[in-house]
Amino acid sequence: MLDSYRREINYLRISVTDRCNLRCRYCMPSEGFRWIPHENILRFEEIIEIVREAVKLGIHKIRVTGGEPLLRKGIVNLIEMLASIEGVQDLSMTTNGTHLEKFARELKQAGLQRINISLDTVNAERYAYLTGGGNIERVLRGIDAALEAELTPIKLNCVIQHNSNEIDARTVTKFANQKGLEIRYIHQMNLAEGIFSAVEGGDGGHCEQCNRLRLTADGFIKPCLFSDLRYEVRQLGARNALLETIRNKPKEGTTNRINYFYNIGG
Ligand code: 5AD
Ligand code: SF4
Repeated sequence: MLDSYRREINYLRISVTDRCNLRCRYCMPSEGFRWIPHENILRFEEIIEIVREAVKLGIHKIRVTGGEPLLRKGIVNLIEMLASIEGVQDLSMTTNGTHLEKFARELKQAGLQRINISLDTVNAERYAYLTGGGNIERVLRGIDAALEAELTPIKLNCVIQHNSNEIDARTVTKFANQKGLEIRYIHQMNLAEGIFSAVEGGDGGHCEQCNRLRLTADGFIKPCLFSDLRYEVRQLGARNALLETIRNKPKEGTTNRINYFYNIGG
């Protein structure tokens, strides 16, 4: 369906949990963050209902995100349910990869097509520092498992401060080349300050051709990462919440003072 600026909206990003086992500095506020209460988290049936309605409105591309989506109990079942919806043509996930070794094969069998893995450095100490204690070895094993399961093309999401030539990013570039993985460099953003820019090698951040909507784990549909606008599914119903979101999708992003990345999905 076209929005009011004649952009074709065909992509829905679904955050299935706000929980994460890592603490990336740019993703979570250092203090004062609150988890979504359990009863507010959408059940699988509710997510499926929203996707069914979204498909009727022209969405055919779905990405599952978090927080860390592999922490959501039953995630493989959810993927299977999503994959079986007629009209879902592209089904992918963004994960930090730390639980991927266990899940890669099952996810592929359930119908997940491809995967993006967050990786800002390949240096073990730097990785632990940037992620608040993460173990790079687990991610590397996760990547190998994803390759073996053919969750391809595998894309690495590498958050950079300035440019892709900085030292941490270069370790990831080299690794990606060795492994034959795609890489996208994402400038570190700040939602509250409205600091965002286009993704090198990806298609986020170009407002004039933005095709996406977002569903938060607690059931708000958002037209834009950099906006406070949101429409609650439990209040409006799936179809109306989707229609309102598409109708009100802003021409371009400004600021988002409600969400952090961990609760809206990167
Ligand atoms: N700026 C840019 N990307 C971010 N992500 C999380 N927080 C930020 C931020 N402030 C990205 C992660 C990951 C995805 C979940 O979102 O790197 O790729
Ligand atoms: Fe977790 Fe991803 Fe946020 Fe890091 S960026 S804390 S891995 S959700």
